[in-house]
Amino acid sequence: MRVVRTRAELAAALADARGRTGLVPTMGNLHRGHLALVEAVRKQADFIVASIFVNPLQFGPSEDYKTYPRTFDEDCAAFADAGVDVVFAPAVQDIYPDGAEAIEQVTVPPHLADILEGASRSGHFNGVATVVKLLFDVVHPNVAAFGEKDFQQLLVIRWLVNAYSLPVAILGVPTVREPSGLALSSRNQYLTADERARAPAIYSALTAVAEAIRAGDIDWAALSAKGADALASAGLQPEYLELRNANDLSAPRAGEPLVVLTAARLGKARLIDNLRV
Ligand code: PAJ
Repeated sequence: MRVVRTRAELAAALADARGRTGLVPTMGNLHRGHLALVEAVRKQADFIVASIFVNPLQFGPSEDYKTYPRTFDEDCAAFADAGVDVVFAPAVQDIYPDGAEAIEQVTVPPHLADILEGASRSGHFNGVATVVKLLFDVVHPNVAAFGEKDFQQLLVIRWLVNAYSLPVAILGVPTVREPSGLALSSRNQYLTADERARAPAIYSALTAVAEAIRAGDIDWAALSAKGADALASAGLQPEYLELRNANDLSAPRAGEPLVVLTAARLGKARLIDNLRV
């Protein structure tokens, strides 16, 4: 496995690539969720590039950009074990040579960018779309994998590929969970032991809502309120718990594919999860 630090080194490493190239974009601090993306890409690609880049553009001023866990050596070992061919781990300066503010950002349409996660994280999805487009431009992948854990992000990436006619197939990979149901996340590390014991309430609340819908309940407002109450009772502070159309995040309608999405604060962590119904 080669580790490259600049776009120029990446270009040289890509010259050795044969067949189809797969890309797994990450911010590092790897867990089994990230490695599931590598597995998924491996089935459709001959040469695997994984990126590690904590993207300042997608963090708000009061968010955890500075403290985001950085575990570069462990991440490289995990990617090597998983059979990755090239790790692209650029410095911020290599990606944004004139500063992050100077770059012309991708503008994600408001119906996708300003709801749910975007409602409290203004500019977040523009930052994600901008860096992912740049990664696609420098890696030229045939296929790239993203986790359903970040369901809205996955739809933003699908929008990006369509809007710019990018020649890359997008794989959505199911969320990897702990046995308790808690979705694996780098931000779980912010939890104390007590908070960790409470965190599985997120998955329980999503499951209860999904089961009620399967049993025929279509009172979306009441279902959402009940789900949020369940989180609050477990000591979490729900930011939202909403039902949406799973294809485009529009308002839910019976008989269409649905997804229930939530974000909740628990101590220092802000956790997100979702479940398709
Ligand atoms: P990061 O949070 O590191 O996640 C990288 C990828 O791993 C994303 O596609 C995310 O959805 C996926 N992932 C995270 N936890 C997962 C889990 N428990 N199961 C399955 N997949 C999981 O998401 C980002 O980085 C960034 O926004 C990025 C796309 C790299 C752009 O900067």
